[in-house]
Order: sequence, then C-alpha cells, then structure tokens
Amino acid sequence: MSIQTVFAVESSCDETSISIVQSETLDQHSSEQFPTRLRVLAHIVESQTSHLVFGGVVPEVAARDHLLKITPLAREALAQAQIRANEVDAVAVTLGPGLIGALMVGAMFAQGLAKALNKPLLGINHVDAHLSPALLLESFYPRTDLGEWLKVSPIKFPALALTVSGGHCHLSLLKSPRERTLLGHTADDACGEAFDKVAKLLGLPYPGGPHLETLAAKANKESNPFKFRSVLADKNNRHGFSYSGLKTQVLDTVRKQLGYPTGRIQGHSLPDDVKQNIAAAFQDAAIGQLMDRLNNALRDFPDIRTVVVAGGVAANSEFRRRLAEQTQIQFRFAPMSLCSDNATMIALHALIPHSTLASPHPFSRYTYGE
Ligand code: KG4
Ligand code: ZN
Repeated sequence: MSIQTVFAVESSCDETSISIVQSETLDQHSSEQFPTRLRVLAHIVESQTSHLVFGGVVPEVAARDHLLKITPLAREALAQAQIRANEVDAVAVTLGPGLIGALMVGAMFAQGLAKALNKPLLGINHVDAHLSPALLLESFYPRTDLGEWLKVSPIKFPALALTVSGGHCHLSLLKSPRERTLLGHTADDACGEAFDKVAKLLGLPYPGGPHLETLAAKANKESNPFKFRSVLADKNNRHGFSYSGLKTQVLDTVRKQLGYPTGRIQGHSLPDDVKQNIAAAFQDAAIGQLMDRLNNALRDFPDIRTVVVAGGVAANSEFRRRLAEQTQIQFRFAPMSLCSDNATMIALHALIPHSTLASPHPFSRYTYGE
C-alpha cells in the first residue's frame, strides 16, 4: 500500500484556495494505479469580496488579493492538516486557463514552495481539474469529511464530460480518465458568465448565478410571458455553445420593459414579478442549450455509459433536476462543495495517475524536480 500527499494551490480567478489531499493506492507502483481511497486533510477556499463593488472580477484586484492571502492560507492549511510542509510528496498548482496575474501569484508561490522543499511541482489544467472530483468521489462534505478516508468510486467509461462555469463551457468525450477529447466549446460567453451578466442586469449581486437561480424559483411557472430562444446546434456544430445572443435577447427585453431603447440601463427597478419571470425564462433557455448539446452527443456516441457534469453552473438545482429526468443514462455530478473553484480539485487531478486529461499533458510539460 502506498500513500501520496499533495499540497495544492488554486488562484486562477477570484478564489484563493489551498488544499492538502492524500491518496491511498494498493501497491508501491502508485504512479500507475487509480487511488482506492482519498483523504482531504485541508480544504480552504477564500472567495474574494473586493470585486463586489465592481459587479465583476477585476484582474489586477484579484492578483493583489491573492498575493495578500496566499501565505497565511497556506499556513492555515498546514495547521488544519496537522502536518509539516516537508511531509508532502508534491506541490500542485493551476497553470491555466485563468487570469494571468492571478495565476502567476499561485504559480510563483507553488514553485517557491516546491523548490524550498525539493519536491516535484505539478502544473494542472483548471478545466480538467474541475472534472476530477466527479471522476473520483460521489460526495464530499467539508464539515464532516475533512480528515476522513473516503472510498474512491470510479465512474463507467466511456463518459461525456461537461465543464460549465464562469469561464468555460466545454463538452468532452472521456475514453478513460486519461483520454479526453474536446467535442465542443463556447464560441463566445461561457454559460456561467451569461448567468452573471443577466443577474447584474436585473440588479443582483456578483456572482449572479446562485442569486438568479433563487429569483427564478419565485417565477410563475404556469404562465411566464417571457420566452428566450437558445442558439440551435447545426449539423456542422452539434456540440458547440453560444450565449451572447441569449444575453442580448434578455437585454432587449429589459430595455423594452423599462422603455429605454438605448443607453445604460439597470433592470433592478422592474417590478419583482417581471424580474422573476425574466430570470426563469433566461435560466430555462440557458439550461435548455446545455441539455440540447448533451443529447446531441448522446445520440452521436451511443456507447456512452456516464455523463459527468462539473464547474460552478453544475451547482444549479434546476439543471440537476432536468438532468435527473433523463433516467436512461447514469449521471455523476461533481460534489456540490467542489463545483466552484477550489484547490481540492487541483490535488485530486494531480492524484489521477499519469493523467493525460489535460492537453497538452500537464505532468510531462510542467513537472519539475523529478
Ligand atoms: O467554476 P467556477 O467557480 O469558476 C470558473 O471557473 O469560472 O464557476 C463560477 C460560475 C459563476 O459564473 C457563477 O455565477 C456560476 O458558476 N454559478 C451558478 C450557480 N452557482 C455558481 N450558475 C448558475 N446557478 C448556480 N446555482
Ligand atoms: Zn473554474
């Protein structure tokens, strides 16, 4: 039996996060084996609040905030895990995609730590890492599961994987945890970004996704006068996404309701029921597009055995409900606590042996110190 401990850093956007995760594999050749059990020793996620006044993430502010917090949070993580830094076997860090200044803070910190400890440094692709919790764990509740050994529950392959967050909307085919082929991505905005922009238009705080979901739940489902169209997939692009047109439809509708055809507008002055109905109609169209592309892929790849969904938007309960209605296929969501950005997913990805989920291969390209 072999135990590996990874110290992980995530700073690609507006969460400064540090995690320490252990994996247990059955024999000494742990680099070739899927872990059998996992133990999250530390899981610290600090969401930056300095962006709230701007209604969106300001890259320079994010980088400076990471710089202030990263060292104290790393100390806190070691204290939470009750281990010394030199007891870790490797340091893993998000290398991208993300905000360049924010990424650099995490990468420089992780590189410094790895050099000081003389341990390998593993560069991880953020989009791939979002999928790792769903590939390994059925659930993770930080309050009760921290420090506990959790049984790894592998999914059945081949799988379809949807990473849907504020920055990404990727549909991929997974032949195995090590082989990911991108089927389609967004041509413009990511789905979560559209949630955030529409939420802002309706006067909701950032990040808007969860607030918009709450507002939409209050809408009158039986007689919503609003309906938005999602871009239909065509035969040449059955798996790609686009959200900018949907966003414009919402903007035009809000303008019409306010009676302002041009200029800056704020939808917060609309009557509550109008805002609720617009939120629900937008959510319906946004989720409808995700469902449409998933169904296209399920038709195109009939041997798919599992659908994996991860990223911030995977926390949306209406989306989960609509997926659950599709009973003929097995779904695996990332645990709710690991949907939004966090370093535990970075550590988990580092612990998938010889992972080639990322393209280019993250270990061979970015591993130092071996
Ligand atoms: O994965 P994540 O933390 O960051 C990126 O990698 O982008 O995702 C954050 C995104 C935000 O756009 C946020 O509004 C959205 O996920 N989000 C939601 C929900 N919770 C978070 N969108 C819709 N419904 C939710 N419940
Ligand atoms: Zn993310």
